[in-house]
Formats: sequence, structure tokens, C-alpha cells
Amino acid sequence: MTTANSEKRDGSGKLIGHPLDRIDGRLKVTGKAQYAAEWNIPGLVHGVIIQSTITRGTITRFASNRAEELPGVLAVYSHLNKPAELSKMLTAKFERLSLLQDSEVHYAGQIIGLVVADTLETAKYAASLLEIDYETSDFSTDLNSRLSQAFKPVNSGDEERGKFKKAFETAEVKLDVTYCTQTQTHNPIEPFGVIAQWDGDNLTIYDSTQALIDTQRTMAEVLSLSPNAVRVISPFVGGGFGAKLSVWSHLPLAALAARKLGKPVKISLVRSQMYGAFGCRPATVQTVKIGAGKDGKLKALEHQGINETAEFVDFIECVADGALQSYYCENVKIGHQVVRLNIGEPTWMRAPGHATGSIALECAMDELAHQLAIDPIELRLRNFAEMDPQSGLPWSSNNLRECYRRGAELFGWSRRNGAPGTIKEDRLLIGCGMATALHPMEHTPASVRVKLTSDGFAVVQTASQDIGTGTYTIMTQIAADALSLPAERIKLQLGDSSFPKAAASGGSSTAGSVGSAVKQACTAVLEELISVAVSDKKSPLCALKRADIQIDNGRLAATDDSNKSEDFFAVVSRTASKEIESTVTRKPGPELQKFSVCAFGAHFAEVAVDPDLGQIRVRKFYGAYDIGRVLNHKTARSQIIGGIVFGMGLALMEHTWIDQNLGRIINADIAEYHVPVHPDIGDLHVEFIPTDDPYANAVGAKGAGELGITGAAAAIANAVFNATGKRIRNFPITLDYFM
Ligand code: MOS
Repeated sequence: MTTANSEKRDGSGKLIGHPLDRIDGRLKVTGKAQYAAEWNIPGLVHGVIIQSTITRGTITRFASNRAEELPGVLAVYSHLNKPAELSKMLTAKFERLSLLQDSEVHYAGQIIGLVVADTLETAKYAASLLEIDYETSDFSTDLNSRLSQAFKPVNSGDEERGKFKKAFETAEVKLDVTYCTQTQTHNPIEPFGVIAQWDGDNLTIYDSTQALIDTQRTMAEVLSLSPNAVRVISPFVGGGFGAKLSVWSHLPLAALAARKLGKPVKISLVRSQMYGAFGCRPATVQTVKIGAGKDGKLKALEHQGINETAEFVDFIECVADGALQSYYCENVKIGHQVVRLNIGEPTWMRAPGHATGSIALECAMDELAHQLAIDPIELRLRNFAEMDPQSGLPWSSNNLRECYRRGAELFGWSRRNGAPGTIKEDRLLIGCGMATALHPMEHTPASVRVKLTSDGFAVVQTASQDIGTGTYTIMTQIAADALSLPAERIKLQLGDSSFPKAAASGGSSTAGSVGSAVKQACTAVLEELISVAVSDKKSPLCALKRADIQIDNGRLAATDDSNKSEDFFAVVSRTASKEIESTVTRKPGPELQKFSVCAFGAHFAEVAVDPDLGQIRVRKFYGAYDIGRVLNHKTARSQIIGGIVFGMGLALMEHTWIDQNLGRIINADIAEYHVPVHPDIGDLHVEFIPTDDPYANAVGAKGAGELGITGAAAAIANAVFNATGKRIRNFPITLDYFM
């Protein structure tokens, strides 16, 4: 892919930091970007998944004869005739893939069959002709009524530093509060879709994934193939938010049906199918206990989380992790428990644990500030962590203090009245709230290949993926700077598992991890280029030493003689292969033993609450953020804004409703499942605190994708309290709490 917009470098000649337009923007707005379900594969046939209509029980009859008799129907699969490969999947390893195993139903919407036909219409009609009978059993889908059955799963992530109990008991001021959050559903614009195509024993999967290599490896295991026999292609992803980090049932179903039928099979989900069987953010019940001095200094902090999970897998929403790092406190205890319910498997959703956990922690800090009549920013400054309080390591960089100061200044925090319910505009109650944003960066391995080709391009390849965040664009900027070439000379290629391996795009890891590998691969290919030039008799640089050669705007030049220089691509075009390449593998390095890498920020929200109607409007949301080096101001800002808007959903709207009598989701569409839309968003302003971070990684980026949502919902809730004097501890905060 080449860039369409002309570049502008800043005074330093660097492209990094510049708000370069997305290089894939034109392809996306003209419809030329290929999404998973859009590949035009000849001979394609269509699969429709069949889902359980009961919540728990047994399938007593699965009659497919009427469906199979329909012209155009190619196959109907169920537990009665499942492909042999599925029988081995009922192992712990493939728990999350277990499907069509037997007649048991564990949750409403469980995948119990697949119909394949030559057209989508025929497949859908055939699905309607299936006759499925069940014997139902009792179930539970309600977290609150099953809290007594909470238990500690393996790897519950419990930690204690210091002695919490004693410190809490002896503290001058105590707080003990419980916060609840509801189930949320990922709603990427692009629903899941897959096309599976076999060529002999080789499988190509056109997918929409955040994890090309994990998908390749998992599918190879399911199908007993070598990973090299599976190629996963996913150049564009219409959002994932964590849902697309896993291999879900449609992949093995499409691959197995395609193998049996000898035809490429497509399975494309409709919106309603995204709810239930393809992941959710689980509901949580969280307790935070704080013991503090009268000066607001934390003496003891405990955060315990309980989350719902499925009957067949123990997914932990790690809500309490943030308590370990957010504030300086010597006595901290955290833990997690789960409650198994008859629901689909929960999974990671944008800033898993941190988005939900920061609600309880940051609202509890606001409660403490109110109790002690200390300004909420001042309370946080008094508990500022000068180093990572859990590991004891210094921060790679930390401009959180400046985030508080600048955010408060931009927002106009000084006009806030600490006494709740005192500011009115006509009938409306106005309130201001703030919260800390904190998200650790994950460091992942990545390999990158850079090829200089004689037609004058640098081809950069890695099996990473752009999940909509701007990876194509920022990697182009990094490569252009590292190679001293214009962006137009970079062909950045992602989304193909046959490229050098890179890890999943999760945990806000890609910019820093893959970006560093891109930079190092570019440096390596230039060294290779120099070694070719100095041993090439036709080069003016022949026989020079490395130290006597410099790199300058796409040229190699002798340091002491400006007449001796030549264009990179002149060197390349004299090679036999007409290209010079280098592949570099970067693993998270020893710097991680020396520094703790977190992105920080300060959120500020102003709300207006209608005391008669209960309606809450977020009129203003301002924030200042430290994400290390800002690689591209435009795409970074979009990430933070997206996170904040997601946080508004968490605070006020998003809730996957289950009818507890039926056990079924009753708002499985984006008409009834509310996410914030344009009229819900007030004045939104994001500012980055310039932060030079030489330690985080080679490009100094600490990750932006998950920071924006962390703490955002708490800032809004704290503003609602300031407006009304009512502390709502159940999220989302809806109008009925005020009527
Ligand atoms: Mo994120 S939930 O790590 O895509």
C-alpha cells in the first residue's frame, strides 16, 4: 500500500508525530478495502450457523431431512454428524472452541449446527426448515442471585503487598463500597465473517482478526496441520475491541465444511448473532475498601472483583489489577472470583479489567475526597506514585502530574463547586467530575522484513494487523523516518500470516512493539545496503569504511567527500536479485526489568442532569494524556476519543440485557443496545502532554488504544454525583435512578 497524501515533515525533518492522513483512508472510503466477507472467491458457498433457542438442556431431536431435500442445500451439520475433527476438541485446550460436541446446551445461542447451501438465501431458508426439539433444564443467568457461588478460579491473580487487614483496621478514615457493572457486547462495525478455501491440504482463511498468527496456530491444531499449511489473510479489520483476539466457532465450522464439500465456504454473521456466542465483557460486582489518614493519604487499599463467566470456561475480568499500580499505598490486597452462569463465554473487551475496575477505584477515590472535603485532584496528588508501587521499578516516563494540571486548566476545574447539587442552570443540575486514566503497555515480540526494491520502494512486511487504529499509517511514518525516505516510497504490508510473525494486536501493544521492530528492521536493511555498496566496484562508495558513510535523504554519502554519493536504489538495481532485504525479530527486552511502562491521563467531565426526567447529558469531556511519544497526532487522538466515547457507553448506556425468565438476550441489535452516537457527545477535547520516553521501547510509544476508556466512566459518574449529590454505584447510570 502506498500513501496518497503528500507528506509534511516538521522542522526536524521527521514524519513521526505528524498528523499524516491514514494511508488506507482512500481505500476505505471508496470501498476498495477488502473485508473478510467481501473477497470474491469463485465457487463460494454459504454457511448459516444454527443456534440454540433454549438456555439449558438437551437436544432431543435434530431433524434435517426437509432442509436437506431443498435444492441447493449441500450439507447440514449437527452433533449427530459432526466432522471427525470436532470430536477431539473437547479438551481443556480447546474449551473455547468446543462446539457440536454432544446434545448438551449450556446457554441460549450456543452453536448447535451449520447449514451450507449454494446461496445465502437457500441456506437461510433451509435453516428455517430444521426441526429441533429440546428437553429444558433449570438455568441461571443472573450474577447477583448467584454471588454465593463465587469461587476462585486458577490464575485468579490474587496479590497482597504489605498487610492490608491491620492497616485498614487502624486507619482513621474508612471507606467500604460495592460497585456493579453490567454485561457489554462488542459492536465492531464489521461483524465476524470468514471464508475458508482449501487447495489440497493447504487452507486459506480470509478472516477479520486481531491475531493472525494465533489464528493460524489454533486452526492448524484443530485441523492437525502444520502451521505453514494454514494462511490467514486479514488486511482490514472493521474494529475488534478484543472480540477478534480469539478464534470463535465460525472458523473451524467454515474450514471443516469447506474440506468436506471441496468448495470455499463463507460464514458471515449478522448483528444479532454477535450477541451471546461470540464474547462479551462480563458483568462485575466489585468491592473497594480504602483506609486513609485524615490528610487523605492511603494506608490500605483492597479491590476484590467477582465476574460472571460461562459454565465451561473460567474467564477472569481482572478488575483489581489497576489498584496495584494507580496510587502509592503500602498495604494493598486484590483478588478475583467468578460465578459460572448459563451465558456465552466472556472475553477481553477494550482495556479488559481496567475499563471496569477503574469505575470502582476512581469512584471510590472520589467518595474519599468528598468524605474528607479534599479536592479530588489534590487527593490524587497526595497519593501520587513516584515509581511503580507494585514492582518498585521506575516508570519509563510519567507525566501524570502535568496531565492533572493541564487537564484542569483546559477544562476550567477551578469553577467546580465541591458541594454537590449546588450549581443549576434553569432546571438542570450541573456537575463536574474527574478521574485518573492509567493503562500498562504490553510488550510483544514482532518480526519485520524490509526489502529495498530496484523500482524505488521499501516494502515493509509483518504479520501484524491494523484493527482500525492506524497501524498502516504509523508504521509507514516510522519506516520513512528510519530509512530517510518519503512516505510515498514505503509499501507497508500487514494482515497476511505468511509475512514474518508478529503477536496479536491487544493490550495497546502494537504501536510500541511492532513499531520498534519496524524501526530496527529499517536500520538493519540500511546496514546491509552499505555493506553491498562498499564491496561493489561500480559504487562511488566502494572500499569505504562503515564509519565514513552517512545516510542522507535516500542516499549513501561519504562523510568527508560530498561528490561520493549515490541513491539507495542505484545500489539495489546493480544486485543480481534486484533487491536488498533484512528481517529483524524483536523480543521484549531487558528494559522491562528496569522500567515499568504505563500510559497516563486525567479525564474531566461536565454533566447536566434533568432532575425531573433523570436525563444525563455529558456536555463536556476534556482530558490530558501522556502516551509517550505521539507517533501520529491524528490517529492517536482518534484512539483516545474512541476510548472516551466507549467510556460514556460504559457510564450511561451499554447493557446487554438478559430476560432472566428465558435466559435470552433481549436487546441483540444496535437499536436496543445503546451506544453513544453523535448527539450524545458534547464538547470533546483531547490534549497530549509532550513526553519523551527513551526507555519504553525503540519508538517511545506507550500505547493509546485502551487508555481513553480507562477512568472515563468514573469521571462521568463523579460528575453526576457532583451535580446531584446522589452516588449511583450501579452502572450504567440510567435515568430511572433519578426519578
Ligand atoms: Mo484489546 S481487549 O486488548 O483488543
